[in-house]
Amino acid sequence: EVWNPNGKYRVISTKPMPGTRWINLLIDQDCRLEICTQKKTILSVEDIIALIGEKCDGVIGQLTEDWGEVLFSALSRAGGKAFSNMAVGYNNVDVNAATKYGVSVGNTPGVLTETTAELAASLSVAAARRIVEADEFMRAGLYDGWLPHLFVGNLLKGQTVGVIGAGRIGSAYARMMVISLTLLTYGEFLKANGEQPVTWKRAATMEEVLREADLISLHPILDKTTYHLINKERLSIMKKEAILVNCSRGPVVDEVALVEHLKENPMFRVGLDVFEDEPYMKPGLADMKNAIVVPHIASASKWTREGMATLAALNVLGKIKGYPIWSNPNQ
Ligand code: DGY
Repeated sequence: EVWNPNGKYRVISTKPMPGTRWINLLIDQDCRLEICTQKKTILSVEDIIALIGEKCDGVIGQLTEDWGEVLFSALSRAGGKAFSNMAVGYNNVDVNAATKYGVSVGNTPGVLTETTAELAASLSVAAARRIVEADEFMRAGLYDGWLPHLFVGNLLKGQTVGVIGAGRIGSAYARMMVISLTLLTYGEFLKANGEQPVTWKRAATMEEVLREADLISLHPILDKTTYHLINKERLSIMKKEAILVNCSRGPVVDEVALVEHLKENPMFRVGLDVFEDEPYMKPGLADMKNAIVVPHIASASKWTREGMATLAALNVLGKIKGYPIWSNPNQ
């Protein structure tokens, strides 16, 4: 799909994105915008090289794509200086390679904070109250009357909520979990307008959070230091009836160890938005009743997704036109 075919700057979006604001921004600023409408969900490096072609000023890409040495050198050969991920996370982007080829990298923080935190909060409550299991039970026609022990779950009020990675999203999540009484974070807790809605304790170690919290939500970035942050050993120190929520990146959790842990501890529950080898789940996970799994939708509200698309366009445009870039991890 091509917009403003005679535009001076050739910008590619590797996927159609929500809303029209981002399209208008680019075409109003003399860009020829090409949106890839290939049916394939995940584009390969070769697909993207073909899109970049001989001349390309900037690319808006997606977190499913491998933006490394090969793509940045292709973009640079085509005269491109700007790349933006339509995501806050940029673990799919080799920022050093981009810098080496003179390409500025953008990401889209801020607009997805509350939306992502809301999904983490939803998974927390859904896991605590076994909502998905109960829904499946109803639909299967198994409900034949109220019973004292039917889908008994955890009461969150009075429990300790642990947050690992209390940055923007983790702190927004913590503020939403006012239904609990104590908040235990590994790292800072960013209060909104100086208020502190819950009892906050800052843990000295991550192990302290894992041992003491009844519900733990993971919000770190993925890098070498957080790969398999939650492994077999750390799972084993968590409470047997704890709930673990992950809306960060799949590889933060050793998913094979997690499946084993879920099998051995039927009262342990998880809510997962992300997976180690997306789009796949490790064998056994889909069979676990004590797991809720959703397809990486934490930022999927209309407002947020349109905001992400707009920020990604602004990042690319900023570099091309010399305006300030919204968010630029390699500067
Ligand atoms: C991100 O932005 O990094 C999310 O994972 C997708 O919204």
